[in-house]
Amino acid sequence: MIVCVCRRVSDRDIARHARAGMSFDDIQFELGVATQCGQCECTAREVVAQCGGGHAVAALRQETAVVQLAPSIRESKAWAPSPSAAA
Ligand code: FES
Repeated sequence: MIVCVCRRVSDRDIARHARAGMSFDDIQFELGVATQCGQCECTAREVVAQCGGGHAVAALRQETAVVQLAPSIRESKAWAPSPSAAA
């Protein structure tokens, strides 16, 4: 189904980009959806929301975050590193 008549963008195009982790703003920039009359913006945003647009990237960033402990915490007796971490 065509969501954006002005730019001929389909719901499939929007969904494919959203599943790749792009946000609505990214998709708007990439495909031009909702950049002319704006009548399609609400529907386009719904498609992005249904496909979890932007969440895949956010989840990936969260999983790869490294926790850095302050030296005072690392050296205190409250912090007991595992034996494998000491090796
Ligand atoms: S229908 Fe999408 S900008 Fe006009």
